[in-house]
Amino acid sequence: MTFTKLVVLVVLAASAKAADHDMYHNCSRVDVCSQNRELERQERYQVILEGAMFSQGVASFRVQTADGIEDVGLNITAIEGNIFRVQIEETESSRYHIQDVLDGEPTIVNFDDVQLWLTSAEIFLGSNRAVVNFSPFSIEFYVNDVLTVVIEGDRLTLQNEELHTPFTVGVSFTQALHLYGLHEHADYLALRTTAPGGDDPYRVKTMDLTYYELHSTMAMYGAVPVLYGHGINSTSGLFLHNAAEQWVEITNKDVGADAFFMVDSGALDIFIFLGPSTTDVVRQYTSLTGVAHLPPIWTLGYHQCRWGYADQTDVETVIADLDANDFPVDVIWLDIQHTQDMKFFTWNSENFSDPFDMLANLASTHRYLVTLSDPHFKKEEGYFVYDEATANDYFIKNPDGTNYEDECWPGTSSWMDYLNPAARDYYSSLYLYENWNGTTSTLGGIWNDMNEAAIFNEEIEKTFPYDVVHYGGVSNRDIHNMYGYLQTMATHKGLIDRDNGALRPFILTRAHFAGSQKYAAFWTGDNTAEFGFIPISYSMCLNANLLGLVFCGADVGGFFGEPSEELLQRFYQAGAWLPFFREHSNIGSERREPYLYPEDVQATIRETIKTRYAHLPVWYTLFYEHTRFGDPVIRPLFYHYPNDVELLEIDDQLLVGQNILVKAVGESEVESVQVYFPGGENEIWFSAQLDGTTFPGTGWTDIPVTIERIPVYYRLGSIIPTKQTSRPSTTDMKDDGYTMIVLLRNDEMAEGTIYNDDNLSFEYRDSQKYIYADLSATDMLLVISAIDDSDDEEFEIVIDDIVTLTYNDDGTVVKNSYKHDVNGVPLNQMKYQGKEPLVINLR
Ligand SMILES: *[C@@H]1O[C@H](CO)[C@@H](O)[C@H](O)[C@H]1NC(C)=O
Ligand SMILES: *[C@@H]1O[C@H](CO)[C@@H](O)[C@H](O)[C@H]1NC(C)=O
Ligand SMILES: *[C@@H]1O[C@H](CO)[C@@H](O)[C@H](O)[C@H]1NC(C)=O
Ligand SMILES: *[C@@H]1O[C@H](CO)[C@@H](O)[C@H](O)[C@H]1NC(C)=O
Ligand SMILES: *[C@@H]1O[C@H](CO)[C@@H](O)[C@H](O)[C@H]1NC(C)=O
Ligand SMILES: *[C@@H]1O[C@H](CO)[C@@H](O)[C@H](O)[C@H]1NC(C)=O
Repeated sequence: MTFTKLVVLVVLAASAKAADHDMYHNCSRVDVCSQNRELERQERYQVILEGAMFSQGVASFRVQTADGIEDVGLNITAIEGNIFRVQIEETESSRYHIQDVLDGEPTIVNFDDVQLWLTSAEIFLGSNRAVVNFSPFSIEFYVNDVLTVVIEGDRLTLQNEELHTPFTVGVSFTQALHLYGLHEHADYLALRTTAPGGDDPYRVKTMDLTYYELHSTMAMYGAVPVLYGHGINSTSGLFLHNAAEQWVEITNKDVGADAFFMVDSGALDIFIFLGPSTTDVVRQYTSLTGVAHLPPIWTLGYHQCRWGYADQTDVETVIADLDANDFPVDVIWLDIQHTQDMKFFTWNSENFSDPFDMLANLASTHRYLVTLSDPHFKKEEGYFVYDEATANDYFIKNPDGTNYEDECWPGTSSWMDYLNPAARDYYSSLYLYENWNGTTSTLGGIWNDMNEAAIFNEEIEKTFPYDVVHYGGVSNRDIHNMYGYLQTMATHKGLIDRDNGALRPFILTRAHFAGSQKYAAFWTGDNTAEFGFIPISYSMCLNANLLGLVFCGADVGGFFGEPSEELLQRFYQAGAWLPFFREHSNIGSERREPYLYPEDVQATIRETIKTRYAHLPVWYTLFYEHTRFGDPVIRPLFYHYPNDVELLEIDDQLLVGQNILVKAVGESEVESVQVYFPGGENEIWFSAQLDGTTFPGTGWTDIPVTIERIPVYYRLGSIIPTKQTSRPSTTDMKDDGYTMIVLLRNDEMAEGTIYNDDNLSFEYRDSQKYIYADLSATDMLLVISAIDDSDDEEFEIVIDDIVTLTYNDDGTVVKNSYKHDVNGVPLNQMKYQGKEPLVINLR
């Protein structure tokens, strides 16, 4: 018995090492990359002056090849918020234009001025300018008179093949010191130079990359064709509004960086973001593709998952054991075993025979369930989804018009055609309580997995073949990268409809695309129980957060393999500071619920989870601010310290909002780690242990670490709202007061924000029912005051304690803790109820 198990483990461990490089194609095996990669720079196009037309915010040009054979249109449109849109397309075009990705039609604004010269046209917009050079053709973008982005004419090609419409285009970020973006890759945050003979270009295509490797440009589950060029004086960016496979060659130079896009099909439709700050660029991008709505509060708690919890007793036992051992938890997850024969929207009659009972039990402990729901459907007559989708023609087709079939979890399957609006509506309706018997609102979320789509066929790189056909005769080539996006869109609508719009849906998706934040959280997929997968989770989630995909996490413990006790603790400690916090393990791995470990390991994990819960007010406020401004929830250091060239490549440290600095420990048996403290000598970082230790923002510092915790710091000048009473779940924290942690310098002000609402509904959005308030403090006075006049008294702020840490110029720190004001009135009797400021005098 032990022997067999050992053999199995050894096999798993051995195969867990690397992705299959023969099965997944490299550049040389994919035409659009191999045929274009070494394209010579050459003047191919020129602008024909006579064709130029200017109207309200749209400039149109005719562009031709020297021989006059190719006739191409160019539109440059000014979009609200310092954005230009560039569209280049053949006059007689059959290029496919994707739908449903932008968050509404972009708002066109008028140009401030246009000047037409013999050799160029200049378009003025605020302090920016686009210059179209006629011959050689290029489009230059100036920010405050500084050349910042160039769309290069000499690497532009538009190709019309029988089955697709490839194109190439080069974009140069002339001020950039680094490029970021092009999600999703398990790579450094700052994109690396790729070049023939070295690394392949970054491949952007949704794929189930099994056993993904660290520091690779291979395609993964998500595909977000967005690139930011960050320089000392400005950040700029682009979004290629296109869902086809792409390969992007990156060339970093001393100053400036080039990106060369090789795109398999679809439209050349590029949005250019002119910043000028990093914050501006992120807001420009999220203004186009949308923001996440607030997650229900319980999704910010701790999630317990495993492939798989096998029956409903298992579900109840795991929750009971977590409770018995004092581990807070909000959610337990079920993988595919909850279904009957892998048929989605059914329950396994033997092992989940009474789902209502299971859900009622979970609800009685204030916990939620999330179950898996994939886009493939078992080919089986009599399975109602298969029958109904077949009868209505809702499956993806082969070129000959028959249903596309291949192997997946249930055996031979077909895939729902989410491009078809009727199929989406049908799929949404499956989530209704009346259509999925055995569900209640305690089944609070859905996990859309395998939606790249993933297929058990290595001949086709385990995803859709290029030639399958979606609704309306659309080739997969044109929409491949947004298939999973469309599934989450339908799931989201299904959950909204199911609860009559009263509850915020929660969806976790593996595949994702530009704009997926509107519908779903995502995680970094099937990672491995190795130390390197800890820092990479920070790099990947930071990149995602810059691209609007704020609700990101990584499997705590590592999906494949067996974490050592040390690795598991480090994974928890890092994961607790990512927006989505879930332990997950493979069916082939040993069980790893935290109560299975020795008491010292349990103690570390327990403290880590409790620290997460204590900071829920910070997380929730940041998520609200994301919905309102489009800002990232976690941020790389350069987001707040854009001028410091030393920190542009740091990707194993993150900022939670602006005020909490976290360093992941991603190495075994270290006694100290190097932490970069940003901001200069006046920026002081307080240890989150509140032991009075501080560090100035003067760069790299050696910090001793033990297994108990990783380095976490609060910023001087901030107020951190926390809830310190330990409870089993977020719901149980409802009546607890806040502990305000105030980090300040003598005679200076500390500031923060706080947000509260009903935690579950859309009333914050639809009826402005919330409290969003400013916090400000000097060493003896704390003031809470409304930011909006809509503050709702239903959601009062009650403070239990105020802890002040006052930094003196000689470096000493004085710590005080208050439960009463200067007159002896208990703080928790002084409620802030919106509108009228609450002033707490501690003097
Ligand atoms: C690309 O993949 C093929 C097949 O696995 C391999 O033979 C070839 O060496 C690879 N090329 C590069 C540049 O890695
Ligand atoms: C430019 O805009 C015009 C007017 O909306 C449209 O007819 C034309 O197709 C557009 N051309 C391109 C290249 O997008
Ligand atoms: C940034 O701007 C300043 C002031 O305009 C200028 O002196 C400096 O050279 C610029 N730095 C870079 C790297 O462009
Ligand atoms: C129920 O679970 C057990 C244990 O995991 C498994 O062996 C059995 O096949 C499951 N029953 C069904 C009907 O799937
Ligand atoms: C729903 O499932 C329950 C058992 O879980 C069963 O008693 C009931 O008949 C089912 N309802 C329908 C409409 O199938
Ligand atoms: C919302 O949830 C948080 C965290 O559990 C809690 O502190 C707060 O009191 C809740 N608010 C309401 C109105 O229930």
